[in-house]
Amino acid sequence: MKPAEDFLKNKLYERQQSGTYRELKPENGLIDFCSNDYLGFAHSAVLKQSIVHEVNTHPLSLNGAAGSRLLSGNIQYAEDLEKQIAAHHDSEAGLLFNSGYDANLGLLSSLAQRGDTIILDELVHASIIDGARLSYANRYNFKHNDLESLEAKLKLAKGNCYVVIEGVYSMDGDAPPLLEILSLTEKYNAALIVDEAHAVGLRPKGLVYELGLQQRVFARVVTFGKALGGHGAIVLGSNNLRNYLINFARSFIYTTAASFHQLAAINMAYQLLKNSSEAIISLKTNIELFKQAVNTGENFTLLNSDSPIQCIILGSNEMAREAARQLQMNNLDVRPILSPTVAQGTERVRICLHSFNSENELTLLATTLNKFTLLHAR
Ligand SMILES: Cc1ncc(COP(=O)(O)O)c(C=O)c1O
Repeated sequence: MKPAEDFLKNKLYERQQSGTYRELKPENGLIDFCSNDYLGFAHSAVLKQSIVHEVNTHPLSLNGAAGSRLLSGNIQYAEDLEKQIAAHHDSEAGLLFNSGYDANLGLLSSLAQRGDTIILDELVHASIIDGARLSYANRYNFKHNDLESLEAKLKLAKGNCYVVIEGVYSMDGDAPPLLEILSLTEKYNAALIVDEAHAVGLRPKGLVYELGLQQRVFARVVTFGKALGGHGAIVLGSNNLRNYLINFARSFIYTTAASFHQLAAINMAYQLLKNSSEAIISLKTNIELFKQAVNTGENFTLLNSDSPIQCIILGSNEMAREAARQLQMNNLDVRPILSPTVAQGTERVRICLHSFNSENELTLLATTLNKFTLLHAR
């Protein structure tokens, strides 16, 4: 007991000393420039009502699935929902997972075998990295959005090769050169996987669909915890891929299935998404307004992004923390993203814009940021 407790204490002390200690904080009531609720679904009263209605119109539904999908936990509703979501994204099939983390873990760890190769954009999400780590495949990273770097890694690949990118990168907010990456993977006979977690919302069917590339991409991951305001995820691909995952993806096989009300929430969120053109226009307008109003000066950089994720690089943990503190003192919920979560020197504030942010809120955000960057200009 003692050595184990000492180990914990020492590790936590190290974190405190290096200024990277994490702790859970309750909701703070500040203006939301931090959540992934891009279209306001998470606090939509209309969505809540439709979920309650959907649950009430299925009185025989259970409170919990009470088993994995392969045992007692499968219901027709889940299978129908998978078909509907697959159709929405123009995919042959889809398989639900309990979270985006589970989806990436199950997909990557089960697909690639010993002797195969997984190539990741260096900025992909931790769930993709962890899935690749759990496989026995060879792993390479390529420089973010860099075709030459990708090609160099494709030349090294052995066995079946999987390339994984995101539709919108969660920490930078930028999009990949999708068509060019796809053409390159095709040249080397590699399968492309696109995580659309942050792309779905502003683009209701995702980036792959918007560019008409859905038949050429091997698999897509869509998560429901961001613009869809709920929880869970789906892997989209062929019927073969779906059947393969049912047989081999351990994060699908060995876990209790989602409850009926979780499935109902996902279903109703997709119905709402189909009628969200106004919210999507508001989100686009807010992104433009923010980009026009913010002026970071010469010392700091606003990363190039057309997505709701906008980042200002501040260059150190201290500066990123101080900027977030100033913003929070002005009632604005913006969080710093520190190293080692991002590379040293690229510490930043990450601003998430929403359809529901008002013009006044955006003005307050931009003027507070502009004051901060002016004050700290070297
Ligand atoms: C790109 C990406 N993929 C997957 C995930 C994980 O999704 P979930 O939160 O549903 O586990 C996230 C979450 O932040 C993400 O940003």
